[in-house]
Amino acid sequence: MKERLVIFDTTLRDGEQSPGASMTKEEKIRVARQLERMRVDVIEAGFAAASPGDFDAIHAIAETIKESTVCSLARANENDIRRAGEAIRPAKSGRIHTFIATSPIHMEKKLRMTPDQVVEQAVKAIGWAREYTDDVEFSAEDAGRSEIDFLCRIFEAVIKAGATTINVPDTVGYNLPGQFAETIKQLIARVPGADKVVWSVHCHNDLGLAVANSLAAVLVGARQVECTINGLGERAGNASLEEVTMAVRTRADIFPVETGIDTTQIVPASKLVSQITGYPVQPNKAVVGANAFAHESGIHQDGVLKHRETYEIMRAEDVGWTQNKLVLGKHSGRNAFKTRLAELGIELAGDEALNAAFARFKELADKKHEIFDEDLQALVSDETVTPEAEHYKLVYSRVCSETGETPRAAVTLTVGGAEQKASACGSGPVDATFQAIESVAASGSELLLYSVNAITTGTDAQGEVTVRLSRGGRIVNGNGADTDIVIASAKAYLNALNKLYSSGEKVNPQGNV
Ligand code: KIV
Ligand code: ZN
Repeated sequence: MKERLVIFDTTLRDGEQSPGASMTKEEKIRVARQLERMRVDVIEAGFAAASPGDFDAIHAIAETIKESTVCSLARANENDIRRAGEAIRPAKSGRIHTFIATSPIHMEKKLRMTPDQVVEQAVKAIGWAREYTDDVEFSAEDAGRSEIDFLCRIFEAVIKAGATTINVPDTVGYNLPGQFAETIKQLIARVPGADKVVWSVHCHNDLGLAVANSLAAVLVGARQVECTINGLGERAGNASLEEVTMAVRTRADIFPVETGIDTTQIVPASKLVSQITGYPVQPNKAVVGANAFAHESGIHQDGVLKHRETYEIMRAEDVGWTQNKLVLGKHSGRNAFKTRLAELGIELAGDEALNAAFARFKELADKKHEIFDEDLQALVSDETVTPEAEHYKLVYSRVCSETGETPRAAVTLTVGGAEQKASACGSGPVDATFQAIESVAASGSELLLYSVNAITTGTDAQGEVTVRLSRGGRIVNGNGADTDIVIASAKAYLNALNKLYSSGEKVNPQGNV
């Protein structure tokens, strides 16, 4: 029997700290359910003290998830920890993850605290956290640039105070694999009580080394890796869950550990997170990129046809790639629709939501004869938006675009339930539609990104549009899908406006103590 490598997913917390990746409560619950289906051990569901919305989302996830531990991040102060404790209270298995910075530069310039004060605060934090749960994780923020003697001192103190997992973050992605492994090895050897806790790593990808550093640490004794779907996260992101998991599995000859991950759920998780956050997956991304299993060169194709292992070290189906499967068509009934959704792990809240989704499915089947899993996923994502999160809603849109003429768009929207109409010209049909929407919404936002992606193949494919808007320092992504890309664009724009409208102020956990 190999030792267990705990997979701690922080897509909903560190991943959500990526610009524009903020998710609604319903979206977070969908991601959490997929993580549970994938058998992630610990789901870091957010940072409870960030905002009332973040608190609610963690609380709802704690109520929903039964098979994974649900965790909230908390700075090492009493208020944060009590908020985290309350948020995870309904969880069958709940964890508080508290942290404080330990590098000289962070302690002096950010915290303005002495090393003694930092140790004292960390110890107090563990005490408060232990009032709520005996599963308490401590992180030494910027451990990658901290002094090893100080790390030993603070880790010894928090272990004595009751921390059960010790996390060593390379917060700024500065470490190299050999060096990081040496740090972990020394810590495990030197810290009294090291054998009573799980050693964890949390690596950022600023030098493209997050996965390499995490794996190097596993080889010397780390038994938890913190990672995210698609490597989402602050700046260049975190270690990617799919790469860590598949490296450990594919090189079972090297790693003395195994994960509990159901790898066939990896691609669905990647697609879901990409669709919700609006962060596309690069085609050549390991494991989940569209080309990860495509063999372009003739020599490779020949080799793969003769004997797959000549060029393939993993099987596409093992990570959840399926052939675009024709699942349903125009004549499929409500039951077939419901069954396929259940097979995809999609649960709609009640009959009303199911009926609405089924009506949209019929509409789509009229326009597009072959409906694939990806189409269903895009279709139901609209149904999971709650009415209160839909301040702006598209009722009608029309565009005129002719060679030599300025494109013109007309839209009808509901704004807080009241119908409003507008029309505008633009440099193209999408631009004209956005101008028309803005003449109603007057959001004062700036368009940072517009991208279109075909969900499946063929000219009748649904276009999936991502729109990134910024206003007053806040950045949000909106998504929309439709066989008509102008309508998909309008939906994406409105989705982004709704997020700007509904999301309140949030505190960044790494701002201060
Ligand atoms: O990168 C980091 O140091 C973090 C901590 C809060 C664990 O995200
Ligand atoms: Zn981080």
